[in-house]
Amino acid sequence: MEFFEHQWSSYRAVVEHDLMEHRAVATATEAALRHWLAQRPATAPPPALLDLGCGDLALLAPLLRDLPLGRYCGLDLAAVVLPLAERALGPVPYATDWRVGDLLAWAQAPEGGDSALEQPDILHSAFAIHHLSEAQKQAFLQGARRRINANGVFLWVDVFREPGETREAYIARYCQRIRSGWQPLSPGQQEQVIDHLSQCDIPADRAAIQASAEQAGWRWHWAWQGQYQAEAMAVLTPH
Ligand SMILES: C[S@@+](CC[C@H](N)C(=O)[O-])C[C@H]1O[C@@H](n2cnc3c(N)ncnc32)[C@H](O)[C@@H]1O
Repeated sequence: MEFFEHQWSSYRAVVEHDLMEHRAVATATEAALRHWLAQRPATAPPPALLDLGCGDLALLAPLLRDLPLGRYCGLDLAAVVLPLAERALGPVPYATDWRVGDLLAWAQAPEGGDSALEQPDILHSAFAIHHLSEAQKQAFLQGARRRINANGVFLWVDVFREPGETREAYIARYCQRIRSGWQPLSPGQQEQVIDHLSQCDIPADRAAIQASAEQAGWRWHWAWQGQYQAEAMAVLTPH
């Protein structure tokens, strides 16, 4: 994850210029969470949210400040982003925890360790899980299903391949998209992003991952799809 330790400014530029549709993602995330909250029994305690690969919270902080949470935990592999996330969130009327950690290790850990990571009601992950291999994504889905509260919800925002599309074809069209449309980034920054995604990104085939998730005990709903056949948000609930 050196890219995020050393080239965070390129990712910030991607977010600021909305090149991966983060604004639409934030709107869709808010709609999905408010819909889920509205359906909870009035007697349910305020929910605990665990954010896997939280990053610097530059985009999600305003929504998080406004949600009736009982607790928020941001977990990220890169220690450097956590103070940025804490600063972006600012003072909130619920408990917050910040953890350096690996999201797959969290999914596979036995229960009963760190209370901030136990039985989240809301699991959220944006643009982080696509770094896992296919087998790791499968293991993550199984582990997360075991660890989430039985009445919880999992919002998974990420990049996905079209059904049947190879990783090579996906990477080629994403690189083409960057070179032809990401002018707000300098050519050097574009190449940094291209190097990173060529080496590290393993987006799931959207049909195959839905089938895997359903096998692992999740109900799957595509709640938002971006305009480039890549960015999307799925809402998963345990069944
Ligand atoms: C592209 S950024 C997204 C940040 C934020 N969620 C957003 O949507 O702006 C991906 C983040 O996930 C983190 N990450 C990547 N792989 C991870 C893993 N296996 N466990 C925990 N965090 C991870 C990176 O350090 C980085 O902060």
